[in-house]
Amino acid sequence: MPERIIVRPTGPLSGRVTIGGAKNSVLKLMAASLLVRGDVTIRNVPRIVDVEIMSDLLVSMGVDVRRPHDHELAIHVPDDIVPEAPYELVERMRASIVVLGPLLSRFGRARVALPGGDDFGPRPIDMHLRGLEAMGATFENAHGYIEARADQLLGARVMLEFPSVGATENLLMAAVRAKGTTVIDNAAREPEIADLASYLTRMGAHIVGAGSSTIEIEGVEELQPVDHTAVPDRIEATTFLAAVGVAGGEATLVGARPEHMDMVSQKFGDMGVRTSPCGEGLWVSRPPDQPLRSVDVATLPYPGIATDYKPLFVALLALADGVGIVTENLFAGRFRYVDELVRMGADIRTEGHHAVVRGVPRLSGAPVRAPDIRAGAALVVAALGAEGETVVTDAWHIARGYEDFAGKLRGLGADVTCEHTG
Ligand code: UD1
Repeated sequence: MPERIIVRPTGPLSGRVTIGGAKNSVLKLMAASLLVRGDVTIRNVPRIVDVEIMSDLLVSMGVDVRRPHDHELAIHVPDDIVPEAPYELVERMRASIVVLGPLLSRFGRARVALPGGDDFGPRPIDMHLRGLEAMGATFENAHGYIEARADQLLGARVMLEFPSVGATENLLMAAVRAKGTTVIDNAAREPEIADLASYLTRMGAHIVGAGSSTIEIEGVEELQPVDHTAVPDRIEATTFLAAVGVAGGEATLVGARPEHMDMVSQKFGDMGVRTSPCGEGLWVSRPPDQPLRSVDVATLPYPGIATDYKPLFVALLALADGVGIVTENLFAGRFRYVDELVRMGADIRTEGHHAVVRGVPRLSGAPVRAPDIRAGAALVVAALGAEGETVVTDAWHIARGYEDFAGKLRGLGADVTCEHTG
């Protein structure tokens, strides 16, 4: 487990970096495997800690999960499993809640630990539960667990109050084997949801509209195991866009899907970071003699700027010409890393959902702590534009979502090393 990442200044970056499979897709594809019996294969699976946690969760239920090749998972789902997600694992990864829909659908019952709050503040699951209730499920809350039952899930029309990614996924996975038609209105439109729908469709599900705000699902009786390749990780790709933005230079993000990154590429363009789709993926460049320009950024559900990109924008704005205002519209309190950037000499003030970032010409390397996956990565990115050495502690957070982050940056010429413990 990487404990510390050490970043020393270098010149502009250059080269090629391969973008892995999307964490936020793979975790849901793994959960969706519970809907079938037999052997499924998921390809383009990154070697990250969150995938290990989801594997542990499936294994704890009695599922067999192996990695026959570096980026491939072979999952064998037996006839009988224990439909339970224990607290020790849900507490380590909130995304575990997406097993609720598939477990209910396949076994008619599920016992899932209630996820607590995290560094982003409270993360309720009321929309997941209300949607499943509309489909006939009942819930009891006992001893920190949700005990869910549904003898037969029934198709229903569900209007989400907010296009929640997790709620859309749970309902989609519950609906594919429900009796009748389910319509999810105001559904989340993230590419990872379209990927999940394509996995389910190949299993035999009938889904129309995934990737748009209305998804219609016609329940089927049985699904078949399949072989599926996950979409590339647009958040990892954006992290490398930001790295080139901060350090200058140019890079090819091999395997990135430009069409999943339209809005973020446009914003980076406004800041002076050029991108262009290319045969291999996405090309990015910023001439080192051209300064970054400040912009305002507000997070919104897809296709808007994702919450996960926000710390990267703050890192870029910290070094840009002018003042940028960053507004968080999705999660409360996702600004903890700002204090760390301030310790590196950034001029940032936060007020409720807003951060006012006044660019400075140079940051100064310092010991900082990674508070979560994306903010941790953003601190490493910011350190590429700092004088002197930056040591990012608690770097294991970064390994939850990034495979060999330091190694990939080194491949672009950055001086980034990793110290491991254990
Ligand atoms: C997913 C992503 C996360 C990303 C987020 C938003 C994974 C593993 N995680 O998280 O990286 O930042 O989408 O793009 O895929 N909410 C409720 N009630 C609910 C559900 C959600 O109030 O029942 C609220 C949340 O507190 C939050 C907002 O809705 O304020 C968005 O949450 P949601 O889209 O569900 O995010 P996640 O699926 O948890």
